[in-house]
Amino acid sequence: MPRTHIPIPAGLQIAPSLLAADFSCLADELARLDGAGVSVLHLDVMDGHFVPNISFGVPVIERLRSHSTLYFDTHLMIREPARYAEAFANAGADGITFHIEVVSEAAEVVRQLRTLGVDVGISLNPGTPVESLAAVLPTVDLVNVMTVEPGFGGQRFLPEMMAKVRWLRERLNPAQRLEVDGGVNLDTIASAATAGADLFVAGTAVFGAANPAMAVSELLERCDQR
Ligand code: DX5
Ligand code: ZN
Repeated sequence: MPRTHIPIPAGLQIAPSLLAADFSCLADELARLDGAGVSVLHLDVMDGHFVPNISFGVPVIERLRSHSTLYFDTHLMIREPARYAEAFANAGADGITFHIEVVSEAAEVVRQLRTLGVDVGISLNPGTPVESLAAVLPTVDLVNVMTVEPGFGGQRFLPEMMAKVRWLRERLNPAQRLEVDGGVNLDTIASAATAGADLFVAGTAVFGAANPAMAVSELLERCDQR
């Protein structure tokens, strides 16, 4: 029987990105998050076409599902999201985010993903104008603003993207989530929170830390100081 997808947790959330974890022992890496107050895990799926890198896909997520009760926030950096979305939903994704750059009819893809019972997110690259989201905005549960070029972890946060975050915050309703993705760390998170983001993907800043749980609480503290 297909698993029931969980709703996206309310409030400001740090979403550790598994991309920065040690791929030789993923279950142990998830265990390092225990006690951190983390509710969301960000899963970066890359196909080597939309982005110049390949990460992991359905089988990895499927196996991780039995090791975690976290909300699986699945970020598809792939060319054909509609073709693969059902497999990701069945594997245990709770939310599925696709890129506006890869589709001709974003509203149609949202409709298709909606039938899978998952939260539906849309993402945009740094070079994509935020206004291109206007039509589809009312239909999505989440907007992911890329604050680096997608493809790799450990890049520098692009502060210019905060204009997009502010633009979106003015237009989204409170139930819709606004996520920033890439280069989020202790120096950059407050500016994203001030601009209106409420979901903060952090790979290197969490899994690269000696104590990921402490890293998460320090990041959250910076949000509160905004
Ligand atoms: C980039 C990914 C991000 C990235 C975050 O393509 O979408 O999720 O891995 O990693 P850091 O926090 O290291 O920038
Ligand atoms: Zn991501």
